[in-house]
Amino acid sequence: MRHDYLISAKQLSRGDIEAVLDRAAEIADDPGAVAHSHDNDLLGLLFFEPSTRTKMSFDTAMKRLGGDTVDMGSVESSSVKKGESLADTVRVIEGYTDAIVLRHPSEGAAKLASEFVDVPVINAGDGAGQHPTQTLLDLYTIRENAGFDDLTIGIMGDLKYGRTVHSLAHALTNFDASQHFISPESLRLPRSVRYDLHEAGAQVREHTDIENVLEALDVLYVTRIQRERFPDENEYRQIAGEYRIDAELLEQAKDDLTVMHPLPRVDEIAPEIDETEYATYFEQAHNGVPVRMALLDSIL
Ligand code: NCD
Repeated sequence: MRHDYLISAKQLSRGDIEAVLDRAAEIADDPGAVAHSHDNDLLGLLFFEPSTRTKMSFDTAMKRLGGDTVDMGSVESSSVKKGESLADTVRVIEGYTDAIVLRHPSEGAAKLASEFVDVPVINAGDGAGQHPTQTLLDLYTIRENAGFDDLTIGIMGDLKYGRTVHSLAHALTNFDASQHFISPESLRLPRSVRYDLHEAGAQVREHTDIENVLEALDVLYVTRIQRERFPDENEYRQIAGEYRIDAELLEQAKDDLTVMHPLPRVDEIAPEIDETEYATYFEQAHNGVPVRMALLDSIL
């Protein structure tokens, strides 16, 4: 990984990933040891799309390292509303902060921003493109709960527009995982991602029906149908709700199946699952803090 920025999970080697996860585990064990390690560092938060977990966990992570954050706030309350370009916005913010975290509705926005500034840019989601820091916390959660040896993972839902899926699938090629993609035909993984996985020699299978593969899975990664990225609202309505898991379905799963979700959840996981041993999605969200602390510590 180039340590000056993180734009795509494709940049991450197995060694890069393991270094961040190992550091995150150390930090999770003893957060006090790093509480003042970045006392003078400032992180810029530029979120052009809604966010709860990603933004708040970056904010928490920077503050837990002793640093602070500067937040652009909502698009409505910033100069973006007056027509300022992304390039101009990031060129200004680089003068205020030591690194920039950017979420933007356009694919390629983080890469573009990184070309205009000298401070590190961290991609916190670019349209239907990539979300590499989510992937790091996903991998941390997988390692803690299922491990990477002989891992069989099912990734279900909106594989076309879901950026967390695109990043995770790439990163998993470093671990020889067997990857099963479960979605309606219209929300299959994009051709470009399938091509990259093929080039990386990944073991990939695609399914339209979860029941064909559920019993083989160690991890089931469920995702939200990305309503905001659907060109057609009617098509969204038709599909939403079809790819949903509940307690009855999970009777067919391994007892130690790990169910993950990047959140926010809409209807994809019945709330009755929350109280079971399968549910790992809140732990997954919490892991965002030590993982982002480890990442910031290595980048800054
Ligand atoms: C995801 C995102 O923004 O891509 N959320 C997150 O960062 N945890 C998933 C989603 O919006 O469905």
